[in-house]
Amino acid sequence: MANVIAIDGPSGAGKSSVSRIVGQRLGYLHVDSGALYRIITWQCLENGVNTDSPEEIGAFAEKVDIECRPENGAIAYYVGGEAPGNRIRTPEINAHASKVAREKPVRDRITAILRGMTRYGNLVIEGRDITTAVFPDSPARFYLTASAEARARRRQKEEVEKGIANQSAEAVKASLLARDAIDSTRKYAPLKKADGAIEIDSSDLTLDEVVETVMRALPKEWTAA
Ligand code: DC
Repeated sequence: MANVIAIDGPSGAGKSSVSRIVGQRLGYLHVDSGALYRIITWQCLENGVNTDSPEEIGAFAEKVDIECRPENGAIAYYVGGEAPGNRIRTPEINAHASKVAREKPVRDRITAILRGMTRYGNLVIEGRDITTAVFPDSPARFYLTASAEARARRRQKEEVEKGIANQSAEAVKASLLARDAIDSTRKYAPLKKADGAIEIDSSDLTLDEVVETVMRALPKEWTAA
């Protein structure tokens, strides 16, 4: 069985940067589970699926053609043979993603895809329900958090740097808090700190400090290469 490092937390807590670096250090594949929810959201919007209709979302969830391939230290996704790129990172997708992610058929499909990825090797997976629902038995489970201000600042900087959007910090914060509210109150696999997960508040920590905290908490045999 492959080793799985599971990292959950709200938007902008630093999960992606931390998981990517930990993955590089250990030679584990980085898995961005949120991208799968974004892909289904993007395809809903492209195909005229009403994201206020649980029935329409549920019926559509199985139909999206998603291919997963290990590539350059991460699992890359292709939809109809194409990489989605920044098309899944827009403010519009942000506004619809948590509505799509609360539907059980969507969660069941993505959970099955994520569990199947252990066939590719050791993984570091970031998301909202990896520690609680997808890999609850992993001995390496983390809950990464930060203040809403710090999270909004990071997300806004990232959007500007990547040329995705140019929203005010207030607008980014409002969108992020709206998503957090839906993600943490939904019926199936809500975002919450799992019993036994190690909580790290990254508000006043550097990226290196968070990475070191994660590395030190891993089972010794995983880091003794
Ligand atoms: O991490 P992100 O912002 O890319 O996530 C996009 C959406 O998907 C967000 O609403 C949370 C949801 N999500 C989820 O419900 N479960 C996961 N494991 C990962 C993301």
